[in-house]
Amino acid sequence: MEAPLLQLRTARLILSTPTQDLASAARDFHVRNHAFLAPWSPPTPASFETLGFWQDYAAKSREAFSAGSMVRLWVSPAELPDKVIGSLGFSQIFRGPFCNAILGYQIDEAEQGKGLMFEALAAGIEYMFDRQKLHRIGANYMPHNVRSGRLLARLGFRIEGYARDYLFIDGAWRDHVLTALTNPQMQRPV
Ligand SMILES: CC(C)(COP(=O)(O)OP(=O)(O)OC[C@H]1O[C@@H](n2cnc3c(N)ncnc32)[C@H](O)[C@@H]1OP(=O)(O)O)[C@@H](O)C(=O)NCCC(=O)NCCS
Repeated sequence: MEAPLLQLRTARLILSTPTQDLASAARDFHVRNHAFLAPWSPPTPASFETLGFWQDYAAKSREAFSAGSMVRLWVSPAELPDKVIGSLGFSQIFRGPFCNAILGYQIDEAEQGKGLMFEALAAGIEYMFDRQKLHRIGANYMPHNVRSGRLLARLGFRIEGYARDYLFIDGAWRDHVLTALTNPQMQRPV
């Protein structure tokens, strides 16, 4: 049994850094949601349906967490801790005068519209601000990703700009709306 390096709990969810024990559930999540996520996500490698890919992903996520460069969390229902129904990740963590990360997230198609991603992101952001001492979290979405834009606005993210040909998604370079949330408690980098 491999314990997660970090686990956060909310009213309905458990958020865990990836482990070998959850790799199979993460693969199942991505296989059953492949068609749903494809229009919104960077391309997945051909091996994403194999258990080995997700075991390797879990090992690399652990390394990145320990190095302080990334915090990835797999989302499970509180009453079904062995199932994965979503994920969030704070990547490209920079410290010093920037103290910034970039946020990405996705939820099971069958679990949309219940406020679960909001609940997961609120807990993740609180952790990144209070414990990881970030000052700023950036999150960017394609203009037609209305659900994602609404979710970020509810969390307090503010639109900062518009980036053309920003990310390669669904076979093309896609424009993105740039948003960010800052941490008013951080007076200076620590
Ligand atoms: C973007 C995405 C995470 C949004 O998921 P979501 O379930 O709509 O987000 P939330 O958790 O904020 O849920 C909000 C919805 O739950 C409803 N809801 C129900 N119960 C709720 C509760 N207790 N609390 C809050 N909202 C609740 C809200 O009314 C809202 O529904 P609506 O949008 O139909 O009005 C999801 O669509 C997704 O994974 N998309 C594919 C991947 C993706 O686009 N990722 C982001 C790339 S930038």
